[in-house]
Amino acid sequence: QEDIFKKLVAHCKEYGFVFQSSEIYDGLGAVYDYGQNGVELKNNIKKYWWDSMVLLHENVVGIDSAIFMHPTIWKASGHVDAFNDPLIDNKDSKKRYRADVLIEEQLAKYEEKMNKEVEKARKRFGDAFDEAQFRATNQRVLANQEKWDQLHTRFSNALNDSNLDELKQIIIDEEIACPISGSRNWTDVRQFNLMFSTDMGSTADGAQKIYLRPETAQGIFVNYLNVQKTGRMKIPFGIAQIGKAFRNEIVARQFIFRMREFEQMELQFFVKPGTELDWFEKWKETRIKWHRALGFGDDNYRFHEHEKLAHYANAAVDVEFKFPFGFKEVEGIHSRTDFDLSQHQQYSGKKIQYYDPELGESYVPFVVETSIGVDRMFLQVISASYCEEEVGTASGEKDTRVVLKLPPVLAPVKMAVMPLVKKDGLPEKAREIIDELKFDFNCQYDEKDSIGKRYRRQDAIGTPFCVTVDHQSLEDQTVTIRYRDTMEQDRVPIADLKGIIGSQVSY
Ligand code: GAP
Repeated sequence: QEDIFKKLVAHCKEYGFVFQSSEIYDGLGAVYDYGQNGVELKNNIKKYWWDSMVLLHENVVGIDSAIFMHPTIWKASGHVDAFNDPLIDNKDSKKRYRADVLIEEQLAKYEEKMNKEVEKARKRFGDAFDEAQFRATNQRVLANQEKWDQLHTRFSNALNDSNLDELKQIIIDEEIACPISGSRNWTDVRQFNLMFSTDMGSTADGAQKIYLRPETAQGIFVNYLNVQKTGRMKIPFGIAQIGKAFRNEIVARQFIFRMREFEQMELQFFVKPGTELDWFEKWKETRIKWHRALGFGDDNYRFHEHEKLAHYANAAVDVEFKFPFGFKEVEGIHSRTDFDLSQHQQYSGKKIQYYDPELGESYVPFVVETSIGVDRMFLQVISASYCEEEVGTASGEKDTRVVLKLPPVLAPVKMAVMPLVKKDGLPEKAREIIDELKFDFNCQYDEKDSIGKRYRRQDAIGTPFCVTVDHQSLEDQTVTIRYRDTMEQDRVPIADLKGIIGSQVSY
């Protein structure tokens, strides 16, 4: 699985999806750039989200707020005081780690040991294998389960109490070693704020320390009144936003899974107090449907209930996807109570309330939030779509093709048009087809190399349809259309292309 992940990263680079930022200067940690195909896929993901939120819900509208905001916003939101990671340094390797991540990895090790034991037994017993029975009776599984349970309880308690000494003690008791040096010589655990800051204005004017937003949500909260009043919105209603966020992540690993500059798609849904848990359930349902509609397999998703709720939440769940490195969070759904709006009301001194005409009274609305990382969704889409397939060649040999089986609606290029040869008027005919269709969907012209090689290139970037123009096309206005997943080909009139492709690349 790790191998597959390395291949994915290499593929993203080779085919213009994702590049390391500042690569010619040896890169910048956990910052990435999107290439010519990456930006198309990313835009399509954002559109899929935006349309499902803003177009499909009459009571959801969008905004685009600035990245720079008044510094007091981050005081009110709790980010200045509480947006911290617990860090620990290894004294020998001088490497810095997140204490909670080290402990989570230890938990994963116990789980892995149990799973290995189960897999071994499954192979041994074949069809007769009863997994539940085995887990309940096998001594090695039980011993690891006990270690897992104990560690899990201690860890959850330490997190809930924000007990940094206990986190360090767990690392010592579990004999967790530095992954680089193997040393167990640890410092104390310290809190480290994740927000980037910069100075606004010149020092002569009295520069102001401002933060790069670590979430887009606060831009929505501070515009709540503007949107509610100018849009004459009635509760329940939502405000959606897509935009950049910045976090000085220490454990920046796994490619675009955890970045220092990333993009979020967030919805804040404002509801009547007391109805928030019903709305929380509704949004959970809506969001998992959105993921599943892409057809990556229902078993690849699961909900993870939070053990530790953030200070502002009264319910929280993650949508997890099965990445090549295991089930990991892609989206968070949180019932944030009236925490944020009340805080902004207090810090700004402005009344942030909703007059409910049905109740005849005013209140601070409660909020249910859905928050998903664009980049993490991008990684989900690429991971789920990447396939290596054995195929036969014209000469009868076996070959492997790499194909991105992207949902057509997300594919960067929808149709590649290829003249069979670079003469006899075929290139002109191919361009004529593109000129006709380029306003409907993204088309690409490709005349270089053999048709076989051109198909492979399009497979690698996930183009669902390849259209080949040959001599017959000039006579009868037909072309061959080749389907990415089945590799089957049909001869169809040029006039039908818009209908055939258009219906597949839209939702
Ligand atoms: N407003 C709530 C909020 O920001 P979060 O769980 O911290 O909640 C929401 O982040 C989503 O943003 C995550 O589920 C993830 O998809 C994405 N995300 C968070 N930090 C990220 C990072 N460093 N790199 C990439 N995506 C990230």
